[in-house]
Amino acid sequence: MSRRILVTNALPYANGPLHLGHMVGYIQADIWVRFQRMCGHDVTYVCADDAHGTPIMLAAEKAGVSPEAFIAGMQASHAADFAAFGVAFDHYHSTHSDENRRLSESIYSKLKAAGYIASRSIEQAFDPVKQMFLPDRYIKGECPKCGTADQYGDNCEHCGATYGPTDLKNPKSVVSGATPVLKDSEHYFFELSKLQAEVEQWLAAADVHSSVKSKLKEWLDGGLRDWDISRDAPYFGFEIPGAPGKYFYVWLDAPIGYFASLSALLGNDEARLDSFIGADSTAEMWHFIGKDIINFHGLFWPAMLKGAGHRQPTGLSVNGYLTVNGAKMSKSRGTFIKARTYLDAGLNPEYLRYYFAAKLSDGVDDLDLNLDDFVARVNSDIVGKYVNIASRCAPFLDKYFAGQLSATLSPAMADTLGGYFGAKPAAVFAAYARRDYAEALRQTMALADAANQWIQDIEPWSLAKLIEQGSLGPFRTKTGREVAFASAEEVRAALREATTAFVEIFRLLTVLLTPVLPNLAASAARFLGDAAGRDTAVPQLGYTLRAFEPLATRIDPAQIKAMIAASTESLAPTEAPKAKPAKAAPAPAAAAPTAAGDGQASIEDFGKIDLRIARIEQAEGVEGADKLLRLQLDLGPLGKRQVFAGIKSAYPPDKLVGRLTVMVANLAPRKMRFGLSEGMVLAASNDEGGPFLLAPDDGAQPGMKVK
Ligand code: 2FM
Ligand code: ZN
Repeated sequence: MSRRILVTNALPYANGPLHLGHMVGYIQADIWVRFQRMCGHDVTYVCADDAHGTPIMLAAEKAGVSPEAFIAGMQASHAADFAAFGVAFDHYHSTHSDENRRLSESIYSKLKAAGYIASRSIEQAFDPVKQMFLPDRYIKGECPKCGTADQYGDNCEHCGATYGPTDLKNPKSVVSGATPVLKDSEHYFFELSKLQAEVEQWLAAADVHSSVKSKLKEWLDGGLRDWDISRDAPYFGFEIPGAPGKYFYVWLDAPIGYFASLSALLGNDEARLDSFIGADSTAEMWHFIGKDIINFHGLFWPAMLKGAGHRQPTGLSVNGYLTVNGAKMSKSRGTFIKARTYLDAGLNPEYLRYYFAAKLSDGVDDLDLNLDDFVARVNSDIVGKYVNIASRCAPFLDKYFAGQLSATLSPAMADTLGGYFGAKPAAVFAAYARRDYAEALRQTMALADAANQWIQDIEPWSLAKLIEQGSLGPFRTKTGREVAFASAEEVRAALREATTAFVEIFRLLTVLLTPVLPNLAASAARFLGDAAGRDTAVPQLGYTLRAFEPLATRIDPAQIKAMIAASTESLAPTEAPKAKPAKAAPAPAAAAPTAAGDGQASIEDFGKIDLRIARIEQAEGVEGADKLLRLQLDLGPLGKRQVFAGIKSAYPPDKLVGRLTVMVANLAPRKMRFGLSEGMVLAASNDEGGPFLLAPDDGAQPGMKVK
């Protein structure tokens, strides 16, 4: 039976470009949407920019533009990135829209009329210079416990103490630097506790991963508390009806943005909108979100919907965080990669879709993008296994049979080929349905492996050779089979049957990969011709292929290097250094103090420099540069680096090999005449002597951080 399914993705904030961490959830949802459509279901897929709130208001101010202009630019950039990655929403909207204002006012009014909104005065930090209330994240000061400076108003990053913003010593507004004062203000609250039983009931029936359910239950067991849904002017958002100067908190109108986007898609047709969001809607509603926002989607949102008389979500699909090379994305390591930077490096966006899918199970685990593994996996699976099947067979079908597949197969051949169809694709589809894409692709690639082995056993190229030589054999295959024929027709029939079977498996794999690789699958479908179809229950025979064109190219590791280089935040000084004594040694670019006073570096400045232990693997002179050595450094788990160092006068290259030293690992790579320098080794010197290469004590390991 065909289902009507509304699918949404968490709305990205309109305050910065998308990065690869964002893409996990969008790619996950898009694959599911494409899969459900392949199954014949009626899917509506919407998203929008989350455009309100203090950070966006301040970012626009800093950029010197109106918030409206600021969010318009962001929305365009997000929409372009999504399109490039094949994330194909039916509509991409903004929470700063007429639809969202209307729906937010309507839901709020219904909650109010039903007695779920209360108001009371609360005391909050206020910036007397900027004349605005300060969210906790906008107050910094000294930790009340250990005294560390520059800590946020909720916890200390140094000693881990937790506290409120009023506990900070010497608190300062991040916005103006002024000392905040405490001020009263009237706030509006959504009385969630009154809907606790309804949320519990919803959760019991909702399709939510067990680990997420447990977390939500834990919060429910602790009892729901009233939720502050108002903010004071100045605020970029919607003014609350009947409450001048008070605005809806961004998280109140954000999820309503799902409905706003849907409404815009439906031409604001009330009846059609109601068929999705009305209390008795028979459509399913699925939200794809990250694990950091399950409280909003698993507590507040279902409560809001219930309280306002709307339907509640059918399910939540929750994804974990993205790590790159096993660690949190880092600007200094070049692993905080923007979606656009990936595209600009010339990398195929579908390859990222494939890699993410291959690592996404139905759980909430974090996902690691290991860049070496990414290259290896894509090159092996997509190019080496899947596309390879077509490229090994197409030339023979084209040359000897004008691209026309056999209409019949021998019983043995038909039997083997039949084994690929039916139950196996059904198992792949079942895995897609439960969003276990890792399993779906594992099983798909197992079919591709089996097909490649089969090709290896049949050796169509050897059959083609017989045709070329006018020979009937015998020949022995690499797998040890003796092959001989009674007539030239038999040779031709054998080649045609075999390549027909292999192309059929390629067609089957194409269907199975379509949700993940829609563009590649579309190119493959063009090669297969219109008559090929999408049947995965039984093989299709006798259709005619179109000319084969290369479908996919391997990733060149140089593209990855370029992407990392483009993502590495330069630590070069932003201001011209002050006048220095004539003979001062050149300051290393990384260490130029910026924030702290004359000649001093703050702890933050120092923290920006990533010092690591490195083992010198190779050292050699550089032609045309008397003082330089080219060093190949091993940073253990962080990989290898090439660095040029001016230490030749003090160290014959062979004396350096095997030595440990200290390097600056997060310098922006520098293109030199002799090649790329990816960091700097540390050495001491003055007028009397040096350079003396720094070395750690025994026991230090390559890759260790120097702190
Ligand atoms: O966490 C975030 O990035 C939010 N902008 C997500 C909003 S999802 C929905 F509720 F709008
Ligand atoms: Zn502390």
